[in-house]
Amino acid sequence: MTAAPDGAARPGRLRLGVNIDHVATIRNARGGDHPDPVRAAAIVASVGGDGITAHLREDRRHIRDDDLRRIQDATDLPLNLEMAATEEMVRIALAHRPHAACIVPEKRAERTTEGGLDAAGLHNQLAPVVTRLMDAGIRVSLFIAPDERQLDAAMRLGAPVVEFHTGEYAHATGERRAAELRRVADLAALAVKTGIEPHAGHGLTYDNVQPIAAIPHLAELNIGHYLIGEAVFTGLEAAVRQMRELMDAAR
Ligand code: PXP
Repeated sequence: MTAAPDGAARPGRLRLGVNIDHVATIRNARGGDHPDPVRAAAIVASVGGDGITAHLREDRRHIRDDDLRRIQDATDLPLNLEMAATEEMVRIALAHRPHAACIVPEKRAERTTEGGLDAAGLHNQLAPVVTRLMDAGIRVSLFIAPDERQLDAAMRLGAPVVEFHTGEYAHATGERRAAELRRVADLAALAVKTGIEPHAGHGLTYDNVQPIAAIPHLAELNIGHYLIGEAVFTGLEAAVRQMRELMDAAR
């Protein structure tokens, strides 16, 4: 989606990035090479997914270093590398030059990325990371809570993209969920106004994706765990297709 000169949103096709981390989680459970996340990436490409998202964690619990090159070699889809803002990850990103790098907070003990990046509090640590990645032609995104202070910090860092963490929305119910949805919608509108492309992701499912997909300012959703879980029952092709249909129907 593009921003009109006045900052108003023009509705466009919402991109779907499929996070294939948990194919690697299953593979790693047995220590072999099956199921291969590269095969998942090829399936995503064959059913019209718009991108592959993969998080190389410090502990390599799912995606591993050699998966990145294999994914890049196997598909033409843009790779969105989720990464912590560490020297090691910056080096890896610069070596692989993915289309995009989404900087996420990372705690060793967490099961998944539990909250947004404190872009405001970590400005000095993040600034050189953002600059180095952008200088290498990598599109930088910051995974932040839908919070004006964090969006403002992303703007000061010069990030062209933010991804709003939808975990609070996904886990809430009733009025709380409605309030979280408004927060994402308002911040997405504000992001477009300030020239930042807003994405969203985390915890999205067939049941909760549509109100998020209906937010006209959002350009991309990144969805992983639920899709891979559904793929166990229906196959990855069908799961991606169904998510795509729900997203399209919401616009
Ligand atoms: N976007 C980002 C930045 C993430 O860290 C994750 C989780 O790895 C996702 C999207 C996908 O979240 P989920 O697996 O809950 O769909």
